[in-house]
Order: sequence, then structure tokens, then C-alpha cells
Amino acid sequence: MARKVGEKNERAVIEAIQNRRSVRRFRKARLRPGVIEDILEAGRWAPSGLNNQPWKFLVLAGEKKDAIGVFTHYASVVKGADAVIAVFLDHNLGYNRDRDCMAIGAAIQNMLLVIHAKGLGGCWLGEIVNRKNKVSAFLHMPKNLELAAVVAVGVARTYPRRGRRRALKKCIL
Ligand SMILES: Cc1cc2nc3c(=O)[nH]c(=O)nc-3n(C[C@H](O)[C@H](O)[C@H](O)COP(=O)(O)O)c2cc1C
Repeated sequence: MARKVGEKNERAVIEAIQNRRSVRRFRKARLRPGVIEDILEAGRWAPSGLNNQPWKFLVLAGEKKDAIGVFTHYASVVKGADAVIAVFLDHNLGYNRDRDCMAIGAAIQNMLLVIHAKGLGGCWLGEIVNRKNKVSAFLHMPKNLELAAVVAVGVARTYPRRGRRRALKKCIL
């Protein structure tokens, strides 16, 4: 049986999916208390294979956040953001690498959508994973945690105008 969904909810979800953009320039403004927790909560509610929830989140702010900028070409995004969320794949919880990585991706997208819904800016930083071992060593992470991505969060200074996507008919086989 179809679940009843308000038209407003449907529009809000579609709006967030389509209008969310990667924000790489931030204002020097602090996030309100509780905001990061709401974002992590959205990540926690992502689907995962066998519901194994293979993610771990580490929130970094201030000097420690800025310091991980040396491990990525996107240091300016890391530095400009008020906080970053390092997302780890926890090998103690994983069961299948492909599916665990998909679940982590779903968690990150959930977080980006909530960041957008709150009127904030976020950016998924994957390039930093090229130096994941160095990042983990710097943060003294245990061996079971593998860096999957970093999500930068802050108040957007400039919001990219329009996203670009291939036409739907080009995506359909
Ligand atoms: C797996 C993945 C890795 C990404 N890594 C980076 C990155 O290292 N630096 C960056 O600025 N953006 C990164 N992005 C953001 C993409 O560049 C962005 O999502 C894409 O260009 C589409 O733009 P939009 O998010 O504004 O729609 C990444 C996105 C994904 C999904």
C-alpha cells in the first residue's frame, strides 16, 4: 500500500536533491550549536547493506581542521569551512567493501542534503583520500578506520548558481 506523503514534503525533497550544490567558499561565521549533530544524525539514517551502518564520523574544527588541509589540493575549502566531518569506513563493521562504500556514499549524501536544507553550504571532498594513510596517522586513528571522505560545512559565501547534469535520456539505456 502506498504511504501517504504530503505534496509539500515531496517538493522539499526534490528541491534539495536538485538545488544542492557543492559550496567551496564560506563566510567566517560559526555554525549554531546542534547543527553538526543534526547533520550527523542524517548520515546515521542512511541505508546500508544488511543495515551494517559501517560509518564513523569525526568532527574537526579550528586548528586541527586547518591542519588537515596540507593533505589535499582543497586546503582552501577545508580552511574556509567552519567544520569538517571526516567520514571513515569502520572495517570492524564492514561486510562487503563495495556495499560498505555505497552505504558511506549514501550517508554523505544524506548529510549534504541536510546541510542544504538548513541553508548552509557543504562540499564532499574525496581527493584528500589520496593521502588517507597520512591523514589517519596525523589524527591517530586506529587501523580499523579507513578515511572515505571529508565533508566541509559552513555558511556559504557564494552559492554556485546552477548545477549541470547529462540529460535524463542519456542516462537511460
Ligand atoms: C566521490 C566524490 C568526490 C568528490 N571530491 C571532491 C573534491 O575532492 N573536491 C571538491 O571540490 N569537490 C569534490 N566533489 C564534489 C563534486 O565536484 C561535485 O559534486 C560535482 O562537480 C557536481 O557539482 P554539485 O555537487 O555542485 O552538483 C566530490 C564529489 C563526489 C561525489
